[in-house]
Amino acid sequence: MRDITADTITQAVMASWANAPDARARQVLQRLTHHLHAFIDDVHPTHAEWLAAVDFLWRCGQISDSQRNEFALLSDVFGVTSLVDLRNAIPGATVGSVLGPFYSDDSPYVPFGADLVKDNAGDVVLVTGVVRDTAGGPIPGAVIDMWQTNATGAYATQDPDQDDANLRCKQLCDAAGRYAFTTVEPAAYTIPMDGPVGAVVRLAERTPWRPGHFHFIVRAEGYQPIVTEIFFAHDPLVDSDAVFGTRQSLVRDIDPVRDDEELPAPLDRRPDRRLDFDFTLTAAGVDAP
Ligand SMILES: [Fe+2]
Repeated sequence: MRDITADTITQAVMASWANAPDARARQVLQRLTHHLHAFIDDVHPTHAEWLAAVDFLWRCGQISDSQRNEFALLSDVFGVTSLVDLRNAIPGATVGSVLGPFYSDDSPYVPFGADLVKDNAGDVVLVTGVVRDTAGGPIPGAVIDMWQTNATGAYATQDPDQDDANLRCKQLCDAAGRYAFTTVEPAAYTIPMDGPVGAVVRLAERTPWRPGHFHFIVRAEGYQPIVTEIFFAHDPLVDSDAVFGTRQSLVRDIDPVRDDEELPAPLDRRPDRRLDFDFTLTAAGVDAP
């Protein structure tokens, strides 16, 4: 290997991974080598530029802790998180969208029709729908797990001024696969801009804003869980999400509720507006094509 040149080094490094016993690990390491070297050959960074890139990664590590993962944000702003979601999408199921950093598995269970508004500011919005299988049948006992920002664009899990369980819940769907709760419309927010990833977004003069959205994880016994988000048609930020999470099939109107409108029952609180969204789950064991 003492005759390494710019023309032979890529093959030499790829060959160095060839004994990895795990075929998938071998493939990942070799293809990563191929694409990294191709990037260098394409961009031709100077020494100073490459040191700056390594320093950037070091600073991503320095600012990360148990509450913050700058590498996840890096994946998000390059669209990699969304590309992985899209490449693993399963035909017929509700399309996935980014999990984000603010999920916590310990949201409280609330009954059908529960009110989450409490002392939060904003119109009362009914969020309701049915969890279905790919044949259109309801899935009784499916569990929806929802979390959202308040009117200031902050999640309870990041904001010491909110009750820990504010604006997040789990709910067991009823015998017709229905879920329903009243809440407020979540406000838009920016990705964290005080770290190295924010600096890159700023230097490119890109928007740091995410449109308002509900996060959902939907689970049911015998089905593949989905991690997704719901966006709002009236929100102009839908077309410029900083992390590329929006999908047309996940955008819904929030319509005013008419006086004579039939609402799901029972509801703890009468809504001003409503948003309907049905989820579709695929059976466990069906993989992406
Ligand atoms: Fe979010």
